[in-house]
Amino acid sequence: MNFKGYSGCKLKLIEDEQKNYVKKLSVSKDYNSRLESQCLKQSAVFLNGFNKCNIYDSGFQDGLFYFTMEYVQGKTLAEKMFDINLYEIEFFTYKLLLHATNYEKINFGADSIFQAKIEDLQKKLFNRVKLNEIFNILKNFSWQYVIHSKCHGDLTLENIIVSGEKLTPIDFLDSFYDSWMIDAAKILQDVDVMWSYRHILPNSNLLVRLTIMRDFIVQKIRHMFMGDKMIETVYMILLLNLIRIFPYVKDSFTENFLSVKIPYIVDKIKNHKWED
Ligand SMILES: Nc1ncnc2c1ncn2[C@@H]1O[C@H](COP(=O)(O)OP(=O)(O)O)[C@@H](O)[C@H]1O
Ligand SMILES: [Mg+2]
Repeated sequence: MNFKGYSGCKLKLIEDEQKNYVKKLSVSKDYNSRLESQCLKQSAVFLNGFNKCNIYDSGFQDGLFYFTMEYVQGKTLAEKMFDINLYEIEFFTYKLLLHATNYEKINFGADSIFQAKIEDLQKKLFNRVKLNEIFNILKNFSWQYVIHSKCHGDLTLENIIVSGEKLTPIDFLDSFYDSWMIDAAKILQDVDVMWSYRHILPNSNLLVRLTIMRDFIVQKIRHMFMGDKMIETVYMILLLNLIRIFPYVKDSFTENFLSVKIPYIVDKIKNHKWED
């Protein structure tokens, strides 16, 4: 059996007499280093609230990097959202935010790292005049409230496998900055912006479930110390995430999707819509 993700890497379930396992093979030689870091991060990082997907082996095959890992039986949280019940939404939200830590002190280091990232991005997107206003919003924000902590790096609902009460993250990503707030922004990208569901027309059942999860997440973050600053920062990271997609956009569908969702998030930030 083969699995499908977005990277183009080959994922295969291997049924062995002793145990089943999954093999992930790099899509190209250029992708090798990214997959190697992913493998290292998956084996080294333990996130509170989550189960670990163990790595068994790694190496090269015809010049392409691969690793094998535990087969986690279940469905992705993206699929689970179609029939998840209220109790499970609350329980999983609690688990998703267990690796969130409280704000301790202003981190000026974070501000310069984010500012440099934004400047780089603006250079890449110099011909998109319409994004100037968004770049001003990003550049005028004080990023020193981004807490430095452990992080997954690409915590979309598709990269979390649900088995009973357990959540197992896969597909780790090296991030330009490590923070649980980056993970929270990725989850909001799915439950508020509906990124992972953009190719389907979400029915109202799904929309209600996603919205309930979004409200639980927002509420939990707002209840933390300096909660309002935190939720604002998380939504700013989400805005930055959406702009970071532009250099990779190849189709008008994604272009249109972003042109609707970006003003939606900007409006939320400007008017503190999470306070509703
Ligand atoms: N260890 C695993 N156990 C079970 N399913 C897996 C495992 N690894 C990947 N999958 C399935 O394959 C899909 C794609 O894997 P992923 O590593 O996210 O690939 P990509 O980097 O292409 O997004 C996942 O969404 C999941 O459904
Ligand atoms: Mg993935």
